[in-house]
Parts: sequence; C-alpha cells; structure tokens
Amino acid sequence: GRVVALIPAAGMGTRLGLPIPKAFVKLGERTLLQRSVSAALSSGVVDQVVVIVPADLAEQITAEYRSRPDVTVTVGGAERSDSVRAGLAAAGTDTELVLVHDAARALTPPALFAAVVAALDAGARAVIPGLPVADTLKRVDHAETVLDTPDRAELRAIGTPQGFDADLLRRAHADGGDATDDAGLVEALGVPVQVVPGDPLAFKITTPFDLRLAQLLLVDSVA
Ligand code: CTP
Ligand code: MG
Repeated sequence: GRVVALIPAAGMGTRLGLPIPKAFVKLGERTLLQRSVSAALSSGVVDQVVVIVPADLAEQITAEYRSRPDVTVTVGGAERSDSVRAGLAAAGTDTELVLVHDAARALTPPALFAAVVAALDAGARAVIPGLPVADTLKRVDHAETVLDTPDRAELRAIGTPQGFDADLLRRAHADGGDATDDAGLVEALGVPVQVVPGDPLAFKITTPFDLRLAQLLLVDSVA
C-alpha cells in the first residue's frame, strides 16, 4: 500500500529559544528537518513525505524540494494538531498508511520507520514507539504537592514515528481535536493502539540541553 510520512515542522521552538523555528536549526551540516526527511525516505518503507512548515518559510522550503517528486511542502497551523491536519489534507486520497513524525526527532534511525510499518502490516491499525521510563514519575497538583506515584512498570515514554491506517487517522482528526500526540486522538475513538520498542536516538530535541546532546551524539555518526 501507499505509505505517506507527515513531518510537522511548523512549530516555533519556544523552549529551544533560538531566533529561528526549531526545525530549521542546523545540527552539524544539516537542519533538523533535512535530517528527518532523509531518515523517512531512506527507511525504504515511505513512498511520499509531506513536510509541514511555517507560512513564512513555505516558499523557501518548496524551492528546496522542487526537484524531489517524493516530497510535498505545505503550511501548518497554530497547534501541532492543526499542522498534522494540514498534512493529512495534502496527502493523496490513495494513501493507505500514514506515519506522523516530529521534525524535531532529528536523529531517529530509519529502521524505526520500518518497524512501525511492519507492525501495521502485521495487522495493527495504530502503532507508536515507546520506551520504558527510567525515572520514577509522580502526579502533582497545581501547588506541586504529590498526588500519587503511578507504577513505573506500566508506563512508556512515547515518541514518533506514529503509524496509522490512513482512514483511522483522518477520522481521529475529523472533529478538530487537540492532543500532544496523534495516538491520543485515536485512543479517544476507542481503537486499540499498539506500542512497539522505540529507540533512544529518536528523542525529541526540545531544549538547549537536547540540542547539545544531539551535537555530541553526531560525533560518533556520519554527519
Ligand atoms: N509543530 C508543528 N506545528 C505546530 C507546533 C509544532 O508542526 N503548531 C511541530 C514542531 O515543528 C515539531 C513537532 O511538531 O517538529 C513537535 O513539537 P515541539 O517539539 O513542541 O516543537 P515546537 O512547538 O516548535 O517547540 P515549542 O513547543 O518549544 O515551541
Ligand atoms: Mg510545541
């Protein structure tokens, strides 16, 4: 079937705190977005990439990918979910599987895309990569008073690429809901979501510390 990877890159990167939107920050020789597009395409399981960018960068990034028939550029929205919906609208109606992958997860190994698609091919309708959590997590109230301590063994830290049956993801986004990840909207429909083993290299570059970490990890990889 036809597999499309949506890559939301329209956020401002407020927590990173640099003067340009995060996806367009360089990590070594290439931007976070360029690295994420390359990872998706080199996985061998993605037919088309839809890149979702801020309005003021649309012209520049469209020109950058003009010679690539497998890359489409579209404009995002105010919230991440709005950007994903814009990407869904830009994906062809013949799309069978959709992967949603944060541009900010710039060191994601291509094999993780393949693992998510393999789980979809095996019959799951929604697949997300997850890792065990090392820290103890606590729920707190507005005053930072601890409410309780969920059993860590039952928790997973979830990232992207998240993979879905295309019609299911369209349905999940149909009522314009907002969630920090797409699987949350699918869960709200009552559809089972399958976790597959994630990869620590797929961490999201969010803060200056994360960017520093990514720069140091690059030393041992091929720029
Ligand atoms: N994103 C998007 N459209 C938005 C918000 C986020 O396409 N309106 C994208 C980001 O570009 C990023 C991914 O969603 O690749 C994950 O979001 P996050 O890490 O929160 O990035 P930012 O929103 O850019 O960062 P911040 O929240 O610190 O401003
Ligand atoms: Mg954000």
